[in-house]
Amino acid sequence: MSVSVSPTPYSTSVESFIGNTPLLPISHSGSRSVKIAAKLEWQQLGGSVKARAAYRIIRDAMNRGELGNGRRLLDATSGNTGIAYASILSRLGLPLTLFVPENASEERKTLFKALGAEVRYTSKYESTEGSQEAARDLADAHPEHYFYADQYSNPSNWKAHYESTADEIWKQTNGQITHFVAGLGTTGTFTGTGRRLKELNPDIQLVALQPDGALHGLEGWKHLESAGAPAIYDYRLADQFLNVRTEDAYQTIRQAAQDEGVMLSPSSAANLFGARQVAAENRDGFVVTVFPDDASKYGTVIKDLF
Ligand SMILES: Cc1ncc(COP(=O)(O)O)c(C=O)c1O
Repeated sequence: MSVSVSPTPYSTSVESFIGNTPLLPISHSGSRSVKIAAKLEWQQLGGSVKARAAYRIIRDAMNRGELGNGRRLLDATSGNTGIAYASILSRLGLPLTLFVPENASEERKTLFKALGAEVRYTSKYESTEGSQEAARDLADAHPEHYFYADQYSNPSNWKAHYESTADEIWKQTNGQITHFVAGLGTTGTFTGTGRRLKELNPDIQLVALQPDGALHGLEGWKHLESAGAPAIYDYRLADQFLNVRTEDAYQTIRQAAQDEGVMLSPSSAANLFGARQVAAENRDGFVVTVFPDDASKYGTVIKDLF
């Protein structure tokens, strides 16, 4: 076996560590004429898909003059968006305040602190909705000190995917993609990528995945019926909805480690489970999903699987 290496040019810009993720082919037991592939979104600054949205939110706010000159970026998050903001802002030398539910994992709390974010904790009983309310209240009280990024309502979130993820998938599949499958969190990934893919080819089917109930273990996903849809969500976009059970996602973590050589987070595994289901329903096609992050932040959750 020969190994060829094409080095990425040395660059000091933050932008060169956002997006442009590889598309990993995935094996499956369905029809041989259906392909499945997944974007390895953890290969970005901060280690998750949220690098795209965070970078675009920061860039747009700076271009509008709303961030910089001592103003802090402020947002509510329980995980990846906070890590992405913190990674990007520490490179840019800009300050960050996060509102986080108190039951966020210890791994995440350590990461926020290590990356220099100021963190304020809100009640675990109010989930990220409580964190959002507290962030909004602080921004309203001190607008001169804070730029409230509000990832759930900020169009820069979905535009990041509209302008990068979708075009990358289109090029990497040579325009052959037939289905895009993704879980809904802030819905930025699904909304932005789906909207652009539909423009490139209206026949592409957009499949939205959700947890099967309000209580679930798919971190990063929302159950829209109980949690309410974020402002950036577009109800007209999805051609199909599928529910994924947490147990099925966890089984898929184990299976993907053994068969694909990747250690997936619960939401990445849930996306893979959904993509396989779509592949099984079709005779041919090219099903594409995303792996938002890998297993490295979920040690306590997945250790019993192996
Ligand atoms: C692990 C994980 N999976 C999935 C998602 C959902 O992505 P989006 O917010 O773009 O819907 C997120 C979002 O934070 C996430 O952190």
